[in-house]
Amino acid sequence: MEKYLGNKSSLLPLIDRFFEDRIPGATQLSDVFAGTNNVSRYFRSRGWATAACDANRFSYVLAQAYLCTNAIPMFQSVRTANKDAFRLTRLQSELSRSIAKFGSLYLPNHSADQVFQDLKHLANVLANLQNIGENNTKPGVISECFTQWGSRAAYASRRGSEGFRNYFSKENALFLDGVLSTLRAWWREARLTRNELFLLLTSVIEEVTITANVNGTFHDFNRDRLWPNANQAFLLRLPLVSCSSPVAEVANANAVDAASAFAKHDICYLDPPYNFRQYSAYYHLLNFIAAYPFLEDIELYVAGLTHVRGQHPEDDFTSDFCFKTRFIDSLRKLIESTDAAHVVLSYYGGRNHWNHWASVEEPTDQGLRELKTLFEDTGLFSRCEVVPALEVRKNYQSRVGEQKELVNEYLFHGVRRAQSGSQLRPPAPLAANVRWGLIDEFCHTAPLRQDEIDQVARTAG
Ligand SMILES: C[S@@+](CC[C@H](N)C(=O)[O-])C[C@H]1O[C@@H](n2cnc3c(N)ncnc32)[C@H](O)[C@@H]1O
Repeated sequence: MEKYLGNKSSLLPLIDRFFEDRIPGATQLSDVFAGTNNVSRYFRSRGWATAACDANRFSYVLAQAYLCTNAIPMFQSVRTANKDAFRLTRLQSELSRSIAKFGSLYLPNHSADQVFQDLKHLANVLANLQNIGENNTKPGVISECFTQWGSRAAYASRRGSEGFRNYFSKENALFLDGVLSTLRAWWREARLTRNELFLLLTSVIEEVTITANVNGTFHDFNRDRLWPNANQAFLLRLPLVSCSSPVAEVANANAVDAASAFAKHDICYLDPPYNFRQYSAYYHLLNFIAAYPFLEDIELYVAGLTHVRGQHPEDDFTSDFCFKTRFIDSLRKLIESTDAAHVVLSYYGGRNHWNHWASVEEPTDQGLRELKTLFEDTGLFSRCEVVPALEVRKNYQSRVGEQKELVNEYLFHGVRRAQSGSQLRPPAPLAANVRWGLIDEFCHTAPLRQDEIDQVARTAG
């Protein structure tokens, strides 16, 4: 999911190099603002023990698929004997393309053939779902509530504009309706395991980010017409999943709670939001799709859709990190409660809480100074350093244009004076998951046992 706000995929080798230099021998990482999960995926595929949390429900789906798959998924109850040669060949060639682009990050030392072999049953089911999606003619809630053709897609903005939500082409909305209702039926008939369903949902969610008629986020859509990406036909693809890496501890929770609940890790990596944009509002549609197969009453949910964007107000999460006045205190609380020996924080010094669009003409370094004061607090850290990303990049090959991207990026590293000790109890469920009866599916999964962690350390070390 390359377009995700603040996604760190382009910085992964740099973060890796930073860890190697500053924290040699580390093999365990917690990532409590995981977003796409790309950071945890990168380290998990190198044999590390990982723990990932995010407040977005769709992020938890991706975490389950990318970080918790540790055997070849069999799809016993839904795979078909019929081999759809055309669709399977297309899935395989898309997989090869994606391995050529991202394999060195997320599946090092894997050939495309090997990955396809591991995911062959998933490919079989995706080919079948592709067929179901392409042939669906029955509009469901995606067509009805999120497209120009929907009878329940009308909006009226506070500024007085009116219209119909315009997230998908007619064909792609029908496709999604067909696929989502099939996944829901399979889940309710107990034909899928949780991991299998999360793998299929990952494929759907990632394609939605490619074909939705939006400019990166779902806070709004192109109101007048469909952009070219939205006119592309919906295509389910194989996610680049490793079936043989250690299973992660994952949570759909508040980062502050997860940090105190997660098992001990060498490094707690922090990549919080640095501005007012609430991710649950900007990615609401992905969170709805993540919930779709599990919701008891979909009609009740969609009856409450509101705002131009079409989000249910009770399916929201307000993060303290999106408020300038609460940011530093929340970060302090989080750091105090993590059981990691090292804290590494990614800081973006461009437009942020302290360099706000409206109030500051020239960028200031106030955010940098406030964070530095926190990291220099000797009650928290025995030592700390702040390193501009450009400095980490020195002496190693980088992509063309990377220099510009890195100008505002910093890494803070603090060595904890004393660790708090994990609470060893699950983080509190999110209010939205309680409201929608989703706490069994979107929750916290147990960490590895100590002997499993030791085994990981031996293998990775
Ligand atoms: C900058 S993004 C992280 C990007 C991520 N490192 C990646 O590479 O995709 C920040 C993430 O923090 C999550 N978030 C914000 N506040 C949170 C909170 N209080 N608890 C849990 N997650 C939160 C958002 O949903 C978002 O995914």
